[in-house]
Amino acid sequence: MLFRGWGESVDGPWPDAATVVDHVGVPHLVVTRHALVRRLLTDPETFRPHNALDAVTPIPVAALRVLAGHRFRLPPTLANNASASHPEIRAIVADALHPDRVAAQQPWLTGLVRERVTRLAATLAAGEPVDLYAELAADLPLLVLARLVELPDAPAGAVKDFARAALELFWAPLDGTRQLALAAEVGRFHTVLRAFAATGGGLAARLRAAGHSPDVVVGALFFLLVAGQETTSQFLTLLLHRLAGEPAVRAGLRAGDIPVADVVEEGLRLEPPIVTWRRVAAVDTTLGEVAVPAGTSIVAWLARAGRDPAVVAAPGEFRPGQRGSRRHLAFGAGPHRCVGAQLARMEAAVVVAEAAPLLDGVTVVRPPWCPDNLTFRMPDAFVVRRTDESQLLS
Ligand code: HEM
Repeated sequence: MLFRGWGESVDGPWPDAATVVDHVGVPHLVVTRHALVRRLLTDPETFRPHNALDAVTPIPVAALRVLAGHRFRLPPTLANNASASHPEIRAIVADALHPDRVAAQQPWLTGLVRERVTRLAATLAAGEPVDLYAELAADLPLLVLARLVELPDAPAGAVKDFARAALELFWAPLDGTRQLALAAEVGRFHTVLRAFAATGGGLAARLRAAGHSPDVVVGALFFLLVAGQETTSQFLTLLLHRLAGEPAVRAGLRAGDIPVADVVEEGLRLEPPIVTWRRVAAVDTTLGEVAVPAGTSIVAWLARAGRDPAVVAAPGEFRPGQRGSRRHLAFGAGPHRCVGAQLARMEAAVVVAEAAPLLDGVTVVRPPWCPDNLTFRMPDAFVVRRTDESQLLS
């Protein structure tokens, strides 16, 4: 289950909490029930976030040297920061992502998505295949994020490559050769970020003005560039794929009977791009019936918590608006709860509203494939083609 937490195991029998030993022999307590996951995430005194960004495959000396060569450093800033600086850094980031600022981006994003959907509809109508990941979902969140926080002037493709390399380096089961290649990619981009952190405007400038060291500014930008766009790209892809197999939901959307926001929430519940998230026990404690010694790595199985029958009426079914649909933990909970939730929801709502009609009359040529990863889905493509002859251009 550990590296494919969205697969069959997400619906199969599983205890409330069970120890699973990973590929390098490290035991993790995997917690599955909604109530236990919530407790884990909302009690930062007992369960610390220090291990949130630890490499699940220890990085060997050769790859560490590559990173050191790029002066790579990641001091705790956001997700893995339990120190007094966390609320302060979080407040500055939250300000940049304030709901009013997010709402102000909606008309621009709608225009962009509409333009793309028109083009993709023409391609589909000509009988050509379309990759909805590459053509729609991949770069949209990055483009919005860049407008909100001002990012380094790097091409979208370079940022995507870096972000995906970082997700693999820290969360995937890997061999040494791959770690070396990923360290080189991540290190290279870290150098770009460090230069930008010293001189860049927007969020970088606000963090500097609040007295944060260059390392902290780089650390915050590093995390945002990964968490603030790759996650949402993944979610958009997975949600569109899910909707391709849910004609009744698309019909409800078309008729206006099903609100777009409900579809987004049900999508987050059933197709969360972040499948698990980690904490570490600070003291000897218990979770449910299980004794948890201090130092235990605990994996919150967010995808499974969203399907807890104690919370959701029909856990495995995509029924927007059903009882418990909104109580998912896809954005975590407590003091580290996702600060970009509002932004991700807005982006997903625009894409569902504009792009769901593209899925009418298509067949899936290539479903998203996701590599082994402890935490992130990382779908690689989602290709559809129109098969409904009546909608093909002659
Ligand atoms: C569907 C998309 C997204 C999902 C599912 C998601 C999920 C999560 C999760 C599970 C956490 C850990 C929460 C915890 O420890 O309790 C988190 C943290 C975080 N997310 Fe997101 N996220 C998404 C999009 C975004 C976006 C768009 C941004 C910003 C532009 C963002 C920024 C952050 C930050 C800064 C944190 C760390 C917060 C802290 O430690 O105080 N995320 N996210």
